Amino acid sequence: MIPIANPDISEEDKQAVLKVLESGMLASGPEVKKFEEEFAAFVGADYGIATTSGTTALDTAVQACGLKAGDKVITTPFTFIASCNSLLFNSVKPVFADIDYTTFNLDPVKVREVLEKDPEIKGIMPVHLFGQSADMTELMELADEYELIVIEDAAQAHGASHCGQRAGSFGQAGIYSFYPTKNMTTGEGGMLVTSDADTARLARKIINHGRTGDYQHDVLGYNFRSTDLAAALGRQQLRRLEDNNEKRRENARYLTENLQQLDWLEGPEERSGNYHVYHQYTVRLRPLNLENHEKALDYSELENCFAKVKRCRDQLVEHLKERGVGCGIYYPLPVHEQPLYRRRGYDKYSFPRAEAAAAQVLSLPVHPVLSQSDLEKIVKAVSCFSKKIS
Ligand SMILES: Cc1ncc(COP(=O)(O)O)c(C=O)c1O
Repeated sequence: MIPIANPDISEEDKQAVLKVLESGMLASGPEVKKFEEEFAAFVGADYGIATTSGTTALDTAVQACGLKAGDKVITTPFTFIASCNSLLFNSVKPVFADIDYTTFNLDPVKVREVLEKDPEIKGIMPVHLFGQSADMTELMELADEYELIVIEDAAQAHGASHCGQRAGSFGQAGIYSFYPTKNMTTGEGGMLVTSDADTARLARKIINHGRTGDYQHDVLGYNFRSTDLAAALGRQQLRRLEDNNEKRRENARYLTENLQQLDWLEGPEERSGNYHVYHQYTVRLRPLNLENHEKALDYSELENCFAKVKRCRDQLVEHLKERGVGCGIYYPLPVHEQPLYRRRGYDKYSFPRAEAAAAQVLSLPVHPVLSQSDLEKIVKAVSCFSKKIS
């Protein structure tokens, strides 16, 4: 089976981790410090703070950027739930805006509509989904105009850029995840980056029990510290990140070239000015006429339409599995439709594009460990799926 993700672990990676094991310094030490400096420099930020996960980096960012209980932050409903949960952890209210059809990221037009309606919004959390940057030119303009705190969730976008600037370096803070499926890994792990000295200082305290000195604590903090074991692996992975991102781009190009003739499938697009790092190669199953769907008021018709596409997608997943091709659905349910969020008063049928994406998307393997014969096998398996949505 060709897996949807396959971490690239080299002999050097193993040796680096072994060296730490033999050093006796297993917790946060010199490797973490170097990893933080090297990763921040790579992103183009002044400070890096390594954490135990992307989720803890997000939680730390929300607090370190000065958001308070009761504040409202705009974010996307089409993301992994951790983005929005980082707000809930801190009693900050996520306010959703719909996504751009092509990039799956926050649509600045929809964000403006929300801002015009709600003067209480304090911040914005763009998520750079699947390895492509959100439209940070437009979103930063809105942030300036409405004086918003910007926290970027770049958990899936290591090395992605927008107009030559790395995703994660635009806002007051950016975060990354180093989970094993990501473009680089430390096992579990995360990183907060910022160029604001106060944010960095506070974040560093929050991840270390709010500690200021020897058993002195002036803010509420956790133990979200990374380890030298994780950092040693992260430093090695960072060295290969750009090459591996290039391999992902080549794989994506091959898939697009060889699948574009299929009229029932729509491939991912790189927005002009963006450098997409293809954390996922995400296709959509056609058709769902979005124009009509956005205007649709008849929800039972909409449900039927979604159900039809999902049935077809389930068949495709089975078909691929039978032919030894792994795939993934990221994400089958938008955040506002998750039971946790429904109980908090978020309505179904509020964000038509996010809802359509959840019904239509399917991610195919694109990782750098794929061989040419793997790529050919993926193309062949997808191409012979003749079932079309009527
Ligand atoms: C968009 C997004 N945000 C946050 C996270 C959380 O990262 P982690 O799994 O490292 O906690 C993930 C992880 O998949 C993610 O994809």
